[in-house]
Amino acid sequence: MKQSVPILRTNYKFPPKFEKGEKVGEGTYGLVYLATAKSSVGTKDSKKRYALKHFKEGREGEGISPTAIREIMLLRELQHDNLVHLDSVHINRAESSLWLAFDYAEHDLFEMIRFHRECRDLRSQNPTGLMPHHVIKSVMWQLLNGLSYMHQNWVIHRDLKPSNVLVMGEDAGPDQVGRVKIADFGLARIFQAPLRPLCDNGVVVTIWYRSPELLLGSKHYTRAVDVWAAGCIFAELCMLQPLFKGQEKKSPGNLFQNDQLEKIFHVLGQPTVRQWPDLDHMHHWHDNTDNIRLKRDSYPAQSQLTQVVLESMMRNAPSWYSGGRLPPECQLPNEAFHLLSRMLEYNPNTRITAEEALQHPYFTSCDPRPSPNVFAHAGINTPQPVRYFKRTAPDESQGPQQTRHVHNAAAAAPNFAQRALRDGATASSSVALAPGMRPSSGFTAGTSGRKRKAGAGEHMPPGFR
Ligand SMILES: Nc1ncnc2c1ncn2[C@@H]1O[C@H](COP(=O)(O)OP(=O)(O)O)[C@@H](O)[C@H]1O
Ligand SMILES: [Mg+2]
Repeated sequence: MKQSVPILRTNYKFPPKFEKGEKVGEGTYGLVYLATAKSSVGTKDSKKRYALKHFKEGREGEGISPTAIREIMLLRELQHDNLVHLDSVHINRAESSLWLAFDYAEHDLFEMIRFHRECRDLRSQNPTGLMPHHVIKSVMWQLLNGLSYMHQNWVIHRDLKPSNVLVMGEDAGPDQVGRVKIADFGLARIFQAPLRPLCDNGVVVTIWYRSPELLLGSKHYTRAVDVWAAGCIFAELCMLQPLFKGQEKKSPGNLFQNDQLEKIFHVLGQPTVRQWPDLDHMHHWHDNTDNIRLKRDSYPAQSQLTQVVLESMMRNAPSWYSGGRLPPECQLPNEAFHLLSRMLEYNPNTRITAEEALQHPYFTSCDPRPSPNVFAHAGINTPQPVRYFKRTAPDESQGPQQTRHVHNAAAAAPNFAQRALRDGATASSSVALAPGMRPSSGFTAGTSGRKRKAGAGEHMPPGFR
């Protein structure tokens, strides 16, 4: 069912309905700003915040960006609690520019992973050093729920990665706080049976989340590419770093990425025709591009997935949890590893679907059960940071590397996480914190202007953010 999304014309550079705030995102196609609706000032909606995504003019003569058009068309058709909500579209014809106004989400998975990684690095203040299991499980359930809805409606996202998965903050109200929202439909496509090649617009899916069939030259995208990417996200939430962190080889139009494939083979072992009967028909496998088939001896004979994830979690956990044990709130049941391995199966035809994953015993028969608020578990909230804004320092002049991240302290509505972080609340204070989630002074809200920690950027894929 089409939802009514008002499309409004404007002559202004910024849609006049909104008060422009800080820059929150900088993606491939444009900038994203925080904004408040002017008309809501003084009303009960006065705290309602929006994310305004700006699309500049497409390539010369192209007019309005086709990516934007695709995003609007799809989001008018799709309505689901786990998909971002498009509120309105604002077109400036004279400049061929376009603004999409979305409901604002305080968090995205990229920032949440970074927050926990930074907590890990400041270990003395945060003894767990890992994302609590209930958060991971609820995020994954909601992500798969949104994905299953999209796939049932014949839409493939094609660019799932942590920064494209948002999570609503406290200002969104009690019904929406902690709700996961799949965002960024710029590369999403409707697919039909029989499948026609969908590779006309070149490379899709950021390399670390790209499935082996795409890397090996498959021209058909199926829902399975999204499930693979979601599996990579699952592992990353556990490890706080990407599972398959390959080096991208820049060569236009070529999906073959040897290093990325090798990273996958080192964890899962090299694929076999027995596991994946279509393997021989994969273009690069068949042609043995860069000797891809001949290095079997350097890879493990069996998948090492569980060991790799567990070892990484153990490394992140503090030394006083030694002896092969993780803190109880971070331990994953065997079912989690089983589901993960089903999501990262080589053969896209047997890889678990999003719909099947929701019925996996990990969700249906293991405690804790997934929750609609990913931060809440057993009456306790897991604190999250407020957003880092991206500001360009006037004294550092050139290029995207000048962007610095400024902690969103003053601008955001006071919420639990901020209060907890600002006050340095402990489990015994009036604000309850999950065990081991005592905030560090490094995240105190008063420290505006705090730069990202050195090394944080190393986790960003090439050409990303
Ligand atoms: N609704 C939103 N609320 C808050 N932040 C958002 C929202 N939409 C996007 N962002 C932020 O902006 C970034 C870029 O937006 P995205 O839609 O992914 O654009 P791009 O296609 O340029 O990657 C996201 O990674 C996210 O951090
Ligand atoms: Mg994006």
